[in-house]
Amino acid sequence: MIKRISTGIPGFDKAIKGGLVDNSVNLLSGGTGTGKSIFSLQFLFNGAKEFKEKGLYISLEEPEEQLKAEAKEFGFDFDKVSKKVKFVYMPPYGVVNFLDPLIRQIERFKPDRIVIDSLTALVMPLEDDYERKKEIFGIIQTLKKLKCTSILTSEIPNSGDEESGGKFSRFGVEEFLCDGLILLHYAGIGGESDRAVRVVKMRQTNHTKGPISMTIGKSGIRVLKTKY
Ligand SMILES: Nc1ncnc2c1ncn2[C@@H]1O[C@H](COP(=O)(O)OP(=O)(O)OP(=O)(O)O)[C@@H](O)[C@H]1O
Ligand SMILES: [Mg+2]
Repeated sequence: MIKRISTGIPGFDKAIKGGLVDNSVNLLSGGTGTGKSIFSLQFLFNGAKEFKEKGLYISLEEPEEQLKAEAKEFGFDFDKVSKKVKFVYMPPYGVVNFLDPLIRQIERFKPDRIVIDSLTALVMPLEDDYERKKEIFGIIQTLKKLKCTSILTSEIPNSGDEESGGKFSRFGVEEFLCDGLILLHYAGIGGESDRAVRVVKMRQTNHTKGPISMTIGKSGIRVLKTKY
């Protein structure tokens, strides 16, 4: 029986047979403002609060205080789970070697859940796409060997729709290397179907296939309905 890790997104676990596969590496892709960081914060907060699981949030974009303040707006008070969740802020152009410090952090803290937000920003300063893809490959391979469940966010111009040429990630390799691919959509026009989440792939999981409506409200992300 496969062990499942709850995402902490109300309604979403049902769409993926109970949660993410234990020890899997999952790509969370979407355009700007689609909710990638909120989803990631919710994943770690829920893990700590409901399951007493440790979480490591590696942020390349927003400093710890900003992320915590945003989370608090949704009722995720990370100060209350400060022993369980650790934030590490690495401004991308200051990172020389990412993998060694990452491995050290993981060995020391032993998290059950890891977020890297975002993988795109992390590899952006590298010289060319060859180096970026090599680094992405190294990070994903490293995470796969570790005993933790991870979410890596990826920024794409438009959430995998026709306008973006159907791209699911920035460099086009991330989704093949990861075990799961979750897309976040935002139309920006209002209405119930304005935001959606779509599971494009999840290994070992008979998941819901189409877009599922979701909202970002006062308690964070909530999935509205799930078709089976
Ligand atoms: N309190 C709130 N209530 C409802 N919606 C909110 C609230 N706070 C933020 N949002 C929505 O969430 C969006 C930000 O979500 P988030 O930061 O998770 O996006 P992201 O995908 O990480 O974006 P980026 O690519 O900029 O990192 C805002 O643009 C807004 O639409
Ligand atoms: Mg973000």
